[in-house]
Amino acid sequence: MIPAINITDILSNDHNFQSIMRNMLQTTLDMSFDGVMITEAGPGYPIVYVNSAFCEMTGYALEDLLGKSPKLLQGENTDKRVLDDLKEKIEVGSIFHGKTMNYRKDGTEFIMEWKIVPVRNKHEKISHYLAIQREIDEDKLEFSPLDTKLPFDL
Ligand SMILES: Cc1cc2nc3c(=O)[nH]c(=O)nc-3n(C[C@H](O)[C@H](O)[C@H](O)COP(=O)(O)O)c2cc1C
Repeated sequence: MIPAINITDILSNDHNFQSIMRNMLQTTLDMSFDGVMITEAGPGYPIVYVNSAFCEMTGYALEDLLGKSPKLLQGENTDKRVLDDLKEKIEVGSIFHGKTMNYRKDGTEFIMEWKIVPVRNKHEKISHYLAIQREIDEDKLEFSPLDTKLPFDL
């Protein structure tokens, strides 16, 4: 279950609200144990942010990734069906949850579970995508990559 507490309600009486929220969001992303990637919604999904957990997981430095497409993480064992499913879901505003084979900078493979969430601007248009990613042990995965039902409640 997603927790019911809305963080904006806790701070809404504070006159520094915008600034506190910005700092909190930045710290949460930077300090997360999971890899976080944010891309633009345009062609190739150019990367605009990755956190240090993402760099540690993949061996890439921030400068290697900014402006590039996440497809640089793909290789010969990447399952095209997963990518087609991902594209179909996120471009209509749905959340994608799946797993894929990714490739580190040194070419080694690892299996990654990830969620991609469309982010809308004030005009309700999808402007960015946010991905939360973690390396997994194949044996511990409880669902198939092509399952459309999310294994958690929203
Ligand atoms: C936020 C985000 C994160 C992504 N992360 C990965 C990833 O880790 N591995 C991967 O193979 N594809 C990932 N993709 C999908 C690739 O970007 C996509 O397959 C590639 O850009 C080709 O897209 P196209 O079919 O539109 O050319 C990600 C996409 C988005 C939007």
